[in-house]
Amino acid sequence: NVTPVILCGGSGTRLWPLSRTGFPKQFLCLTGDKSLFQQAALRLGNLGNAQIQVASPLIVTGEDHRFLAAEQLREIGVELGCALLEPVGRNTAPALTLAALAAMEDGADPVLVVTPADQTVVKADSFTSAMQQAVAEAANGTIVILGVMPNKPETGYGYIQINQPEENAGIHNVRRFVEKPDAPTAENYLNEGGYYWNAGIFVLKSSAWLKALEQFRPDILQATQAAWDKRSADNAFTRPGKAEFAAISSESVDYAAMEHCPGSNFPIKMVPLDAGWNDLGAWDAVWNVLPKDEAGNAHLGDVLTTDSRNTLVHATSRLVSLVGVENLIVVETPDAVLVADKSRSQDVKHIVNQLQKTK
Ligand code: GDD
Ligand code: MG
Repeated sequence: NVTPVILCGGSGTRLWPLSRTGFPKQFLCLTGDKSLFQQAALRLGNLGNAQIQVASPLIVTGEDHRFLAAEQLREIGVELGCALLEPVGRNTAPALTLAALAAMEDGADPVLVVTPADQTVVKADSFTSAMQQAVAEAANGTIVILGVMPNKPETGYGYIQINQPEENAGIHNVRRFVEKPDAPTAENYLNEGGYYWNAGIFVLKSSAWLKALEQFRPDILQATQAAWDKRSADNAFTRPGKAEFAAISSESVDYAAMEHCPGSNFPIKMVPLDAGWNDLGAWDAVWNVLPKDEAGNAHLGDVLTTDSRNTLVHATSRLVSLVGVENLIVVETPDAVLVADKSRSQDVKHIVNQLQKTK
């Protein structure tokens, strides 16, 4: 009665040069021997208990990544439920809509546990219990999101304001949802208190999502339905109509619906997630989660350093050495090398933009 949905069609440009169009970050092994996508699939597989039966995951990704995704699931022994393949990226709202339409095909209306594929979670048990709580609540038709206690005014996340004081058993009514506020606004939220980061995980029935979208973005619902009506299937791979899918507006779940839900007919609830959640959006976040030596250096591959502190070095094909530097990110690959100040990790996307322009 629960269908995991893994959204894994993003491009991960801030993790260039390791993350590439042909091999985006969710499929990389950044923190150990499993890719972020594999970690997400394994986490979802653990949600089952006496009340919750977990189906094989449904994944939504780009046409070009179908074999990568299928092979990575095979490696970890997870059976692929269905792969919905987008001809072009139209962000997460159409992706989730495809998943909801696919999940309802045989007249069912399962709770979808929708997760991104670019995160790590340290405490697996806490993750599982928060998610099980969310699933139980979503079975009533409620849209449930997971909230992480913020520790800095990060502008790359959604912010959830809860109704104070705390309501029953750790489930909160959401007063406001603001996607990616600017820095001064995020700082105000942190000072004010009562705000959480959106973990990017949505727990909701297929029908609840389709109804909410019908209210807030009927254009996206109609356009995605049109692409779904023109689908073709080939074993586990299902492809929406190409021209119809390309015609859908590009929008995220957060902007398309979550921001509009509080105070509407589709109230959302939030379950707090205290599980060592990290979004590996940029290199500084990767440094954060990796094991480090006493000087704060995290090294992967063939690396030698002396008198250096708080660095991240990722060498893939050559020996890389650092002398007397601090707070640097160095990523070496056969055809591209990145050297960046750690505090400027977000700006790596500008290099990728320049590269795309020159191609
Ligand atoms: N199938 C598919 N198609 N997947 C996509 C697409 C697409 O067009 N675009 C993005 N994704 C996948 C990414 O691979 C990722 O796993 C997930 O959807 C979320 O997309 P991101 O692009 O990484 O979103 P974000 O990080 O900017 O923001 C979201 O996550 C934050 C937490 O990490 C939002 O939900 C924020 O509110 C949230 O705080
Ligand atoms: Mg992300």
